Amino acid sequence: MAGQRMVIVGAGQAGSDTAAALRAGGFTGAVTLIGDEAAVPYQRPPLSKAYLAGRTDAAGLELRPEGFYGAHGIERVRRDPVARIDRDRAGVVLASGRTLPYDRLVLATGARPRSLPVPGAGLTGVQALRSLADAEALRRALAGARHLVVVGGGFVGLEVAATASGLGVPATVVEAGARVMGRTVGPEVSERLAAEHRARGVELVLGREVTALEGDRRGRVRVVELNDGRRLPADVVVVGIGVLPAVELAADAGLEVGGGIVVDARLRTSDRAVYAVGDCARFPSPYAPGRLRLESVQNASDQARHVAGQLCGAPAPYTAVPWFWTEQYDLRVQIAGIVRAGDRRVTVGDPAGRFSVLCFRDGLLVGAESVNRPADHMITRRLLASDGPRPTPDEAARPGFDLKTWQAPASAQAPAQPQASTQAQAPAPAPA
Ligand code: NAI
Repeated sequence: MAGQRMVIVGAGQAGSDTAAALRAGGFTGAVTLIGDEAAVPYQRPPLSKAYLAGRTDAAGLELRPEGFYGAHGIERVRRDPVARIDRDRAGVVLASGRTLPYDRLVLATGARPRSLPVPGAGLTGVQALRSLADAEALRRALAGARHLVVVGGGFVGLEVAATASGLGVPATVVEAGARVMGRTVGPEVSERLAAEHRARGVELVLGREVTALEGDRRGRVRVVELNDGRRLPADVVVVGIGVLPAVELAADAGLEVGGGIVVDARLRTSDRAVYAVGDCARFPSPYAPGRLRLESVQNASDQARHVAGQLCGAPAPYTAVPWFWTEQYDLRVQIAGIVRAGDRRVTVGDPAGRFSVLCFRDGLLVGAESVNRPADHMITRRLLASDGPRPTPDEAARPGFDLKTWQAPASAQAPAQPQASTQAQAPAPAPA
């Protein structure tokens, strides 16, 4: 291990966590973390919330203090992205021309926002929100804004709309689907979120798409035109219509890609010396048939630790329970597990207040979507990771059912095991 060279491409959550976990795991060789930004690796979740609202600054976003990297012998390469991977020579070539040899390479290249394929998408005032620079620009733009239009009612769109509303900027969200956050939550949570946004004065335009953006003579956006002919006034437009995994380096190097960088259960690419983690990786999961790509802090962080563990000598399949969260106004939405259309859904609690939707497949609890019910979320995560008993859908459907009280007697009979056994999480049959 001492003479080994680890090179990590991408200095976001997954990359920074991989570097830190290598050192925490006792790795004594060289570690190089390559990023294309100048900033110290930072957390993205606050960009659309606390940072945009002005409740924290860039220093408050740092994943680790700047001095951490030097103190732990982690070389940071900044503003010098990898131009290509030379697998024959086991090296990465940077944009500057510098070549860094590796014994193991970890790709943590993340994802990039999809751009809006309509005329006017390049006007001033139209932007995505992914990086710290994006968030800085949006913070400045919102300061004097009269009307914000958000395209896409997913994670980015709704969090930005909630923050803007808190800043007193009138906001309209244009979502192509029939309901908000349709990709990640079921109808009950969508409705609760939509009701809250409307109550706070955010207009939601559902089932509509943007056909064009129009600007003034100086090239600043002024109007967002929809496919029903409506013309929305706008001086700031945020585009949050999903992301695409950054697979180009891997593809150019001849690694297998398809909906992400394809990896095996140990997160190895088609080249055994190269791993992929985080938003860019498409991996086999015990929680879903086929391969899965997840865009979440949990996944980035858990996969980073997992790969580092393997590089430090502990090979194992990756089986961490997936979970997600979003905060909008005083609603904290937490999602545990991978829920699919067709799963049986049982609501516990008050759908207009605090509630959870427990989701079952073939009678087995496979996930929960919770609104201001953090205990349900945590218990579900524990249950999904354990071989112990889980509530049945019929139990959950009984009036007054509560996971907290259910788990007390159940766990007295069979203690929940915090670590996953892959058997209990065998993938359900492929969906129709
Ligand atoms: P998303 O997939 O969550 O939402 C995109 C939304 O845009 C969908 O509802 C989709 O139906 C809609 N859409 C697609 N094309 C459209 C069009 N042409 N016009 C109108 N609507 C359209 O993706 P989003 O919000 O861009 O976020 C990207 C990623 O950023 C997330 O996957 C997540 O990883 C990350 N993120 C996570 C947060 C969290 O976990 N709380 C917060 C912010 C971002």
